[in-house]
Order: sequence, then C-alpha cells, then structure tokens
Amino acid sequence: MARTFQTDDSGTYRMDYANPHAALEPIEKETAVVDEALAVLRDEGILPHTDYDHARFLAHREAVREAFEIPWTAITPRMQRLLYAVNAITRPAGMIAAGVFCGNTFISNAGAAVGPGACYEAEDLVGIEIVPAEAERAERNVRRIDPTGLARIVCDDAVHFAEAYERPIHLLYLDADGDAERGKGIYFDILRAAWDRMPPGAVVCAHNSVNCAARLRHYLDFVRDPAHVRASVNVIFDIEGLEVSVK
Ligand SMILES: C[S@@+](CC[C@H](N)C(=O)[O-])C[C@H]1O[C@@H](n2cnc3c(N)ncnc32)[C@H](O)[C@@H]1O
Repeated sequence: MARTFQTDDSGTYRMDYANPHAALEPIEKETAVVDEALAVLRDEGILPHTDYDHARFLAHREAVREAFEIPWTAITPRMQRLLYAVNAITRPAGMIAAGVFCGNTFISNAGAAVGPGACYEAEDLVGIEIVPAEAERAERNVRRIDPTGLARIVCDDAVHFAEAYERPIHLLYLDADGDAERGKGIYFDILRAAWDRMPPGAVVCAHNSVNCAARLRHYLDFVRDPAHVRASVNVIFDIEGLEVSVK
C-alpha cells in the first residue's frame, strides 16, 4: 500500500543549500515532525518501531558539522534526522548509497553505524559517486568521522556497482542524478540492478520524491505497486521529499 505523510509547512520548510548547518526551527519541532513521520513508517510496516538515540544523533550531527567540507547540500535538518533514524532503527548490515556527492547524504545513513552516532555494528557501508573529485572529497570527509574504513566511498557508476555487488543489500539510498537523458530516472535502473540481492524486509529510500517526481515516474510506479513492494510512504516534510519503501 502506498501512502503519503505530509506536513502543512512542507512547501515552506526550505534551507539555504550553501548553509547546511543553519537551524531552521526549534529542535523540539524538528524532532516532533520526524517522530510523526517515523510513526507512519512503523504503522505501514516499514519500520519495526520508532525508537532511536537522540543524543547519539546530535553527536553525529556535531561531528559532521566539525569534520565535513560541504559545498552545498539539499539535505535539510529534518531529512538528516530521518535518514539517521531509519538506519538506527533498521540496522542494515549492508547499506549502499548511490550518488553521494560530498558524502553528506551517505554519512546521514552510515552515521548510525560509524563515528560518534554509532548505535549498531554494520558489515559493509558503501557510498557510490561517479565524479572522481567528488568521490575523493567524500572519502576524505567520511574518513575524518570513521577512521576504521567500514564506511567507504567508491568512485563508480551506481548501476554498474549495484550489478556487480555480491553481498546482501539491506538498505539502498538513492540520490544519483544520472545523465542528461535519464536524470533521476536512473533510480529505477539502480533499483533493478540491486533487486535480487535485496532480501525481504530491505528498505529503499529515494530522495527528491517531490521535486523530481516527474523524472521518477517509473520508479515511483514500481515501488507503489504492492505486486513488487510490500509498503511505500512518500514522506513530504520539505520541498524535496523521501519515498521510503520496504521489499
Ligand atoms: C545532486 S547530487 C546529490 C546531492 C544530495 N542530494 C545532497 O543534497 O547532498 C547527485 C550526485 O550523483 C552523482 N551521480 C550522477 N550519476 C551517477 C551515477 N550513475 N552513479 C553514481 N553517482 C552518480 C553526481 O555526480 C552527484 O554528485
């Protein structure tokens, strides 16, 4: 069953992309909005519960603020918290993030298992970025938070990487903007390339479910069809949105 969770302020809650750490609202409001979204994901059977360690999340946020070079990002504070929480709650042993730019989106996911926000032990956390200079910057950023190398960046085409990856993928995060022809339509190609290594219960998070919905049409049709995917929720609490689905 596909469902939408939308806040009244989703069209006006927006950030200055060049100022990623600016607070946009009181932290109590941010926490309450994300809690509401998590409750819908739980009610739809995507998450087993809604509990995550808020203090660890804030430690993660602070480490990113101190260590990461972020030229710009569209990841709002609400989205950063939601991504961290989804990973902290589902605890994916294997996580792939496709199209990670400077690594901010990747670490919002992987930060639940590495660095000061770590709350579980993962096995392999991979961020894929096709532009070599961005992959190098992302790797530098991630290494400042995770000296162990458990969370790593690979410079590759995410479709190619997902096809060749041999391990189970418990959480797939999609954010690659593809080439001129496909644009964000590449999400569907990446999902299909990864699909047979995603066990039942695997979670897929697709950024830009709102502002790129037209290019994501085929992807969204697929994940909102119960013949393929057990449940899917469009979380709309900022102008980008996140489609969260469970296989
Ligand atoms: C728009 S950025 C994502 C930024 C992110 N939403 C944020 O706000 O921080 C998308 C990234 O996907 C990368 N990309 C595009 N096609 C890709 C592909 N086929 N495989 C891996 N990465 C790709 C681009 O180089 C770019 O860095």
